Amino acid sequence: MAYVVTENCILCKYTDCAVVCPVDCFHEGPNFLVIDPEECIDCDVCVTECPAAAIFPETDLPAGQEKFLEINAVLAKTWPVITKKKDPLPDADEWNGAEDKLQHLKK
Ligand code: SF4
Ligand code: F3S
Repeated sequence: MAYVVTENCILCKYTDCAVVCPVDCFHEGPNFLVIDPEECIDCDVCVTECPAAAIFPETDLPAGQEKFLEINAVLAKTWPVITKKKDPLPDADEWNGAEDKLQHLKK
């Protein structure tokens, strides 16, 4: 099992999650973070840290978010690890909760 970053992180990238992960399994792209499923130990602490409520266990993904399982696994292989807090993206609060953000994912 692993935890998965889902669509609402896109264009927000608050990064609070990366700071608390005990095994440093968050990886950073231009406007999204992913979790490496091979490193995640299912500790659950990142879930409540995310202001965008974008993190779920892979066994409890919201409807329509299943594709993020593969997106996390694939992008975690090439994106660098992030362990420190950064400023969110400039319009993060406006994008938080917006629909159909997957089209904006930059790889
Ligand atoms: Fe890291 Fe724990 Fe979140 Fe997995 S569940 S990504 S180990 S903080
Ligand atoms: Fe994204 Fe939430 Fe982390 S918006 S960067 S999953 S704190």
